[in-house]
Amino acid sequence: MDSVTKRYPDGTVAVDRLSLEIPDRSITVLVGPSGCGKTTTLRMINRMVEPSEGTILVDGVDIQKQPVNTLRRSMGYVIQNAGLFQHRTIADNIATVPRLLGWSKQKARARAEELMERVGLDASLAKRYPYQLSGGQQQRVGVARALAADPPVLLMDEPFSAVDPVVRKGLQEELLRIQGELGKTIIFVTHDIDEAIRLGTKVAVMRTGGHLAQFAEPAELLSDPADAFVEDFLGEGRGIRRLSFFPSEGLDLLTDPVVAVDATAEQIAARGASGAPYLLVTDGDGKPLGWSEPGSLPGAAPEELLAYGRPFVAGQDSLRVALDCAVLSPTGWAVAVDGTGKVVGVVSQETIGEAIRGAHAAGRTAEATGRQDDSTGRPEDSTGRKADVAG
Ligand SMILES: Nc1ncnc2c1ncn2[C@@H]1O[C@H](COP(=O)(O)OP(=O)(O)OP(=O)(O)O)[C@@H](O)[C@H]1O
Ligand SMILES: [Mg+2]
Repeated sequence: MDSVTKRYPDGTVAVDRLSLEIPDRSITVLVGPSGCGKTTTLRMINRMVEPSEGTILVDGVDIQKQPVNTLRRSMGYVIQNAGLFQHRTIADNIATVPRLLGWSKQKARARAEELMERVGLDASLAKRYPYQLSGGQQQRVGVARALAADPPVLLMDEPFSAVDPVVRKGLQEELLRIQGELGKTIIFVTHDIDEAIRLGTKVAVMRTGGHLAQFAEPAELLSDPADAFVEDFLGEGRGIRRLSFFPSEGLDLLTDPVVAVDATAEQIAARGASGAPYLLVTDGDGKPLGWSEPGSLPGAAPEELLAYGRPFVAGQDSLRVALDCAVLSPTGWAVAVDGTGKVVGVVSQETIGEAIRGAHAAGRTAEATGRQDDSTGRPEDSTGRKADVAG
């Protein structure tokens, strides 16, 4: 988008000289308060709204020079409450565009079935009508319908804002998975900054009057908000939230304070001095049982052990998760496990604090040199999906 302005006939300037370079095959989020021009911007991209000034290019081609139908077919569109055709079945809703494009009934139906599976809808829902689905299911149908003709671009306008937070989180994870599998270029509008940070590879923060306040990767927004408006819009806990972008890889994990439940007094005495006030007891499989004071070992009864709380997956979870585990632990130490739940070590709040300071320093260096260590720019949690950076 090159210096795009939209002035509505009544004189309202909804978008003001907006310039944005939206990267392909990733999710770009437009976020900002109500009325700041997000929907107008999105609708100019598929020419549902025509700009007053400026140009919009897709793959270098001015969209004004393309037939509007061709343009729209290359862009799926998803809106809040899904906007489904109420008198059509789920399968027919999803098959809408393929049918318009002249696909046979059979081929369109097969495509609908494939997409239902792709967005996590049970095949048994195909013959239902939209009112017979939950809000979250309807939203999935909306995504499937937008994907039906396999457009390279998806435009999404507050698609998940009408559902409760739990369903919403599921839909966000689903979208990240779909994007990872299909590599679509997604432009996603929301007024929820946490959703923006969670989904966006890049985030454009807009302010009332259709001005671009900042266009940056989520981690950079959190570390370097461009001005007081962006800072205020990001809300509290920026520092903690930014930790989601730092991996726990490289944390100095101690194994000396970890003992098997059947360890003998000699084995316990033979361990090195680690300075840990408690020892973590593990079962025969190496999974955590709980913390014990060294004096109570060997032979501590399970009910005497202190709860180990929630462990983090070393290397996969972020520093934010590791810190959370340490803060929640009754001993102040976090338990690190591998992907199978076996203990790989324990780590104190102090050590995590040092890692955080190191990561911040490294982050500053990377920013200064314009280098980027993480190719996706997106933190991952233990499931390989983007970590919970919301809230
Ligand atoms: N057809 C129209 N005629 C006149 N003004 C309009 C029209 N459509 C939108 N506007 C105005 O343009 C501005 C931007 O509207 P837009 O719908 O793009 O905002 P938004 O960021 O999507 O808001 P929301 O978060 O509430 O959906 C608002 O001030 C709105 O009142
Ligand atoms: Mg809107």
